[in-house]
Amino acid sequence: MKKILLTGGMGYIGSHVCIELIKKGYEVVIVDNLCNSSISVLEGIKKITGLKPVFYENDIRDKAALLKIFNTHSISSVIHFAGLKSLKESVDEPINYYDNNLIATINLLQVMKQINCKSIVFSSSATVYGKTEHVPISENAPLSASNPYGQSKLLIERLLQDLYISDNKWNIAILRYFNPAGAHGSGLIGESPNGIPNNLFPYISKVANGKLSKLIIFGNDYDTHDGTGIRDYIHVVDLAKGHLKALEVMHSYSKVLLVNLGTGQGYSVLDVVKGFEKASSKKIPYEFASRREGDVAKCYADPSLSFKLLNWRAESTLDQMCRDAWNWENTYLN
Ligand code: NAD
Ligand code: WQD
Repeated sequence: MKKILLTGGMGYIGSHVCIELIKKGYEVVIVDNLCNSSISVLEGIKKITGLKPVFYENDIRDKAALLKIFNTHSISSVIHFAGLKSLKESVDEPINYYDNNLIATINLLQVMKQINCKSIVFSSSATVYGKTEHVPISENAPLSASNPYGQSKLLIERLLQDLYISDNKWNIAILRYFNPAGAHGSGLIGESPNGIPNNLFPYISKVANGKLSKLIIFGNDYDTHDGTGIRDYIHVVDLAKGHLKALEVMHSYSKVLLVNLGTGQGYSVLDVVKGFEKASSKKIPYEFASRREGDVAKCYADPSLSFKLLNWRAESTLDQMCRDAWNWENTYLN
């Protein structure tokens, strides 16, 4: 069976993709430096699938380590998750972000080229659409970035397009995720960010279990049904399944496969609060504050291209995402 290398495979999205790959009979090799994940993820994967993937604790900026991994395993494709992902942190630490995201990717691609492994799926983000106000957002919407994190994603996308132009033997998929949420239904794998979370779902989970006192809602004066910001939350398991479809399809696609992974359905912050209250049977205390810099009123995907090209669509509801996020927080993180 095909062997897939997951960079950053111990992280939130990578670990869920690992489970789906193992379930479909793929062999998985993970390289991760554990800067934002923990070794215990391997146990969770083993409990769910019965198998432990091969794991290397290495930084992907370490070329010698990468070469050794590629020389030891016959890797057919790479799914490249490794990177830093906080917009806020990226403004304070631009060198670290360009190094960990852009330079690390260049390093990985150099090794892949050297070893003649020319198949890569890349984790991009809806952040590349910048402050676009036009929804739903399709793949040909204008691109922009107002922080080093977004800029690094844009630069990597450009690099991958240029790589394909230079040599069309490469198989490349660029997946623009919207807002991944929820956790594995088993409660054994989920999101576990270091420190106080920036994103809504992990933050709300910690309010629900009393680790944080209240949710601060950034803005209640947007032009939306209840004044709070609207986003396209997508269940992380649906997102993971999209990667398997991309892996299947990209090899017979004659261009760079570039698609949104979102549901096409937007929910407000207050919709998520209600969903979480239902899932946890707890009251979520919140207060309104001013808008967060860089936020837009509405951001949700036009998912039609991913449906057409991947024959994939997200299935889970917001209630399911809240239930699974709460189950993870309440059983595992407690
Ligand atoms: P995560 O932080 O949970 O996982 C990333 C993993 O990469 C972590 O396990 C971390 O230890 C590892 N890593 C980081 N730098 C590394 C390096 N130099 N060498 C080896 N390992 C390294 O993040 P995630 O939410 O799973 O995101 C995965 C990818 O998806 C990232 O590229 C992120 O930018 C992108 N993305 C995430 C979201 C989101 O909201 N979670 C949305 C859009 C795009
Ligand atoms: C969602 C909504 C907030 C926290 C970011 C990146 C995006 C992608 C996913 C990486 C917004 C509101 C949040 C809080 C709040 N990541 N909110 N109080 O900003 O849509 O997307 O993560 O690529 O690129 O930009 O996600 O979860 O931070 O916010 O009111 O404490 O919740 O204002 O409306 P965002 P988020």
